[in-house]
Amino acid sequence: MSNLSEAELIHKFKGIPFTIQSSPELLKSLDTFDAREDDVLLVSYPKSGTHWLAGVITKLYNAQITLTSPIEYGDVSRLEELNKVSSKRIIPTHLDYNMLPPNFKNKKCKMIYISRNPKDTAVSMFHYYRDNPNLPTIDTWPSFFDLFLKGEVVCGSWFDHFLSWEEHANDKNILFLFYEDMKKDLPKIVKEISLFLGLNVDENDIQDICKKSSFSEMKSDTENVNSDPSHTVCALTSNRKLIFRKGTVGDWKNHFTPKQNRRFEEIFNEKMKLSEMAKSLTYEF
Ligand code: A3P
Repeated sequence: MSNLSEAELIHKFKGIPFTIQSSPELLKSLDTFDAREDDVLLVSYPKSGTHWLAGVITKLYNAQITLTSPIEYGDVSRLEELNKVSSKRIIPTHLDYNMLPPNFKNKKCKMIYISRNPKDTAVSMFHYYRDNPNLPTIDTWPSFFDLFLKGEVVCGSWFDHFLSWEEHANDKNILFLFYEDMKKDLPKIVKEISLFLGLNVDENDIQDICKKSSFSEMKSDTENVNSDPSHTVCALTSNRKLIFRKGTVGDWKNHFTPKQNRRFEEIFNEKMKLSEMAKSLTYEF
């Protein structure tokens, strides 16, 4: 919840709402970004498990890597700062495919796109709006539900974001993951990520990484460590303590009324009618 008005917190770039944490000058200059062949992009719509995935990936590497702040976070000096990172860069972003600096595409950098069923994503984002002073004040769940369906939330429409990335489902340099699959069988997904990144990780290490990446471990790590305000993997906050809320699949059932659920499904079915990947989404176990 913020004391600032929506107009003071949000601006639009190419029709998509961004917070003032992403300066218009930075967004305009993204196209000039100099990618490196060995960059790894960690891509998500907000609240899809970005921190979880970042936690897993950083534990997979033995070599020196830098988990940078998101490419769209900060002012225009951020590009220069990213340029100065000398080790291999793991770069988070909430950008949709069309806004991604072309250099990442031309150099075929490895990218991992994590998505989460949009009902739980909406609920997670609702709580985030309520807790995060960088986001406009939201009074009630029904009002947020409407904004989410219209795509009038930060990073725009969940549907458009997902579809923009799905168009590249066959690109060999992009790995698509689902939050719910990580919940169901984390070791399997960690192995898949390590293969994709070309890392040789043995079974014991996989088990260890999964243990250290559980919701409770990650939440208590955050509570023990003072967060560094200049470091975040979400372009919407520098406060990691806002991230670890519930970490479950199906929390939407505690928020959606039957009428909201019907409306959501109507819109989902219409918008996603050509989507193959949308068929793989899981809403409950
Ligand atoms: P909830 O709000 O539903 O609890 P992001 O990192 O993209 O902002 O996503 C945040 C969501 O991922 C939050 O969802 C958070 O609790 C969940 N999350 C973070 N770490 C997790 C973990 N280790 N296991 C399961 N869920 C996790």
